[in-house]
Amino acid sequence: MSKLKLAVIPGDGIGWEVIPEGIKVLEAAGAKFGIEYEFTEFDWSCERYHKTGQMMPEDGIEQLKTFDSIFLGAVGFPGVPDHVSLWGLLIPIRREMEQYVNLRPIRMLKGMTCPLVGRTSEDIDFYVVRENNEGEYSAIGGRLFEGTDREMAMQESVFTRLGTDRVMRYAFELCRRTGKEKVTSATKSNGIIHTMPYWDERFAAVSKEYPDLKTDQYHIDILTANFVLHPDWFDVVVGSNLFGDILSDLGPAVAGSIAIAPSANINPEKKYPSMFEPVHGSAPDIAGKGIANPIGQIWSGAMLLEHHGHQEAADAIVAACEAVISGGGPKTPDLGGQASTKDLGDAIAAAI
Ligand code: NAI
Ligand code: MG
Repeated sequence: MSKLKLAVIPGDGIGWEVIPEGIKVLEAAGAKFGIEYEFTEFDWSCERYHKTGQMMPEDGIEQLKTFDSIFLGAVGFPGVPDHVSLWGLLIPIRREMEQYVNLRPIRMLKGMTCPLVGRTSEDIDFYVVRENNEGEYSAIGGRLFEGTDREMAMQESVFTRLGTDRVMRYAFELCRRTGKEKVTSATKSNGIIHTMPYWDERFAAVSKEYPDLKTDQYHIDILTANFVLHPDWFDVVVGSNLFGDILSDLGPAVAGSIAIAPSANINPEKKYPSMFEPVHGSAPDIAGKGIANPIGQIWSGAMLLEHHGHQEAADAIVAACEAVISGGGPKTPDLGGQASTKDLGDAIAAAI
């Protein structure tokens, strides 16, 4: 029996409602496939920020390093500026633990309604690989002459060879591992004339290591259009931090709903714990009502198990989600039903 030591951070809002369902389903898969867990819960959140002035304690990262993985709900809530909650918790975790891959499967589960007319789950099945440590989201920059008419703000992008090559290599390896054919690069080398031509250069260099795989590239503007018009064109799409961020919300929206979409912040070398979280946020508009869809959280649990080598258990979780949605099981209001978060979680656990 393997035992996974997991740090659990529900965070804010519906994080507290979907995390219990995520754990329930991990337990159900564990019982079936012989996986044991040790869960430790942390109250790191905007609420904690209100009380203490910090999203997490000074030694938060050190505490997290002792776990196998992190299972996170969502952080951010009205009353705390989003850049405070993001830079006070998520970004430090992603960077200091070298979770340089943000992986999002874009898959339309059977039973979901696609916002694109005429598309079925056959057409929408690919991955977005987002660079998660550098790029446009850098703290380098500043303001000058604040409050005067000479006021200015500057922000630098950072693209390193190490950073670009390793995320691209991950995308190619993922493509091979999942039996897919093509890696697409998101670029903008016509407008952004230093970093993006460099990105293209590295993509061409790294792709030479994978002669068995096809490649192509699009500027980000037409790429977003193609996600909507031709989602069936894509297998694995790799992008910088900003472009990947945009694509990785557009993708799940095209696949039916961001409420069911999972994501993983991965340190592929397993030197540090990776972090698994739904794509959605804390949904303050529905928090406390018990109606949030828990599938994004549950599916993130499946990605966690996959990361730790429990492929069969991971597949069983995704299959159970699909069976419940397509088989007339309980549906939360976002899916057009009236079921509660717990009803849906119970049904998925039972399906396993
Ligand atoms: P959001 O994802 O929280 O909500 C967007 C819309 O989707 C809302 O109408 C919400 O009710 C709905 N929704 C989201 N998840 C749902 C679920 N599981 N079931 C049913 N409906 C769901 O995004 P929003 O409103 O932009 O952000 C709210 C807060 O969450 C902000 O503070 C933001 O910074 C934070 N946030 C945190 C993220 C994270 O922790 N990784 C990601 C995105 C936002
Ligand atoms: Mg985003």
